[in-house]
Amino acid sequence: MRLRSVLLRWLLVPLITLWAIGFRIHYVRTLALANEAYDRTLLGSALAMAEQVSVRDGRLGVDMPDAALEMLESQAQDRIFYRVGCLDPPSAVNGYDDLPAPPPASGTVDGQPVFFDASYRGELVRMVALRRPLYDTPLCRQLLVQVGETLGARQALSRRVLLDAGSLQLTLVAMAALLITLGVHRGLLPLRRIRDEIRARGQGDLTPIRLEGVPREVAPLIEAINLHTDRKRRLNEAHRQFIADASHQLKTPLAVLKAQAAQALVQQDVRAMRGIVQEIHDSTDATSRMVHQLLALARSDPAATATQDLVEPVDLVDLARAVCFDLLTPALARGIELGFDGETPATTPGQPLLLRELVANLVDNAIRYTPAGGEVAVTVRRDNAGHACIEVLDNGPGIAPTEREAVFERFHRLHGSGADGCGLGLAIVRQIAERHGAQIELGDPPEGHGLRVSVRFPR
Ligand SMILES: Nc1ncnc2c1ncn2[C@@H]1O[C@H](COP(=O)(O)OP(=O)(O)O)[C@@H](O)[C@H]1O
Ligand SMILES: [Mg+2]
Repeated sequence: MRLRSVLLRWLLVPLITLWAIGFRIHYVRTLALANEAYDRTLLGSALAMAEQVSVRDGRLGVDMPDAALEMLESQAQDRIFYRVGCLDPPSAVNGYDDLPAPPPASGTVDGQPVFFDASYRGELVRMVALRRPLYDTPLCRQLLVQVGETLGARQALSRRVLLDAGSLQLTLVAMAALLITLGVHRGLLPLRRIRDEIRARGQGDLTPIRLEGVPREVAPLIEAINLHTDRKRRLNEAHRQFIADASHQLKTPLAVLKAQAAQALVQQDVRAMRGIVQEIHDSTDATSRMVHQLLALARSDPAATATQDLVEPVDLVDLARAVCFDLLTPALARGIELGFDGETPATTPGQPLLLRELVANLVDNAIRYTPAGGEVAVTVRRDNAGHACIEVLDNGPGIAPTEREAVFERFHRLHGSGADGCGLGLAIVRQIAERHGAQIELGDPPEGHGLRVSVRFPR
């Protein structure tokens, strides 16, 4: 579909149709007026002829000089036929005897002329018939005067109207069509400009299209396109970031694994080899944890999955309880007491898998960074304002206030945090929270040392 052709079709076709209808009406009306005028002249001749009937030598006759008839004829540039006859008693008086009589239905009344079309000697003839009473002669009491003329002049006139008015109006319509075409072309110019601008762009150029000079009707479309390209740009950025992160992070553990394997290969002593294989096992664990984190980060990136949002009501109590249950074994292994409290029901719209990842990262951190014998408490509740909250409390070393912003950055870890982490957990937490419109706060526990992380969901 081309906008241009649609516009032109919808403007030009109605214009030409309307013109044709208008011209037809004009033509018919003009002809009717002209015919009326011709009819009046015809009637004039009939009346004049009726006046000239007189009695001569005991006979009825028309006192019309031939010259007068000829004049009538030449003036009208058509052939004139006439007949004067007596109706009562019926007899011919003068003229063409075989002229067709008026249609019987028309019942000529005294003084009222009747116009009719007839065919005479192979030609179409317009005729008028007129009845006249005669009082001063016993020869005839009622006269019938008929005058007819061929249609040459009338047809010539209709041809002229057709040519003159037709050609003038056709010129006007052609000019209007030209102006419309120009107007449509002119109106579509801004779209052309946008097209040229987009075509001229470099391949990776995803900057927004300028909105200046864009017609108001088109602006929403451009805005939508800009929104779309912005999403695309963010998606590209997310992919780029993921590849950068992944390649950066995977190089080291793979190099370590390779070195450990090489070392194991040259060991003669089986016990020593076992020790190295155990190290390989641990490194593989850490690496796979990191791959898992990287993938979680990529998955939770709003740009990467904006179109596949599957939001559903999530029961936060169930979710947090399930996470605690899963992490019970590692907690026990580290000598941590893991408690859960979820009395008040709390539901929020969200993506269950991502929310689970969020809670798991917080609880995992609490277990991981709290020394043996410590306590971790997970609470789901509603705050005073009615927001659903998840809180993870531990009595470990905590995070200094100056570090509380930085720990959310990718790969940021605090000194002495142990080997098996990569600094992505809190970045994932923040990304998922942002995606759900939730707020995270790192704070101090109500008493003693440790960390309190609270995630507050919107109502
Ligand atoms: N509960 C906590 N107590 C003390 N320090 C923490 C706690 N949670 C996170 N941290 C600190 O924040 C850093 C970033 O955490 P995170 O992003 O989860 O990465 P990772 O756990 O892989 O190191 C951790 O290295 C740790 O130093
Ligand atoms: Mg962590």
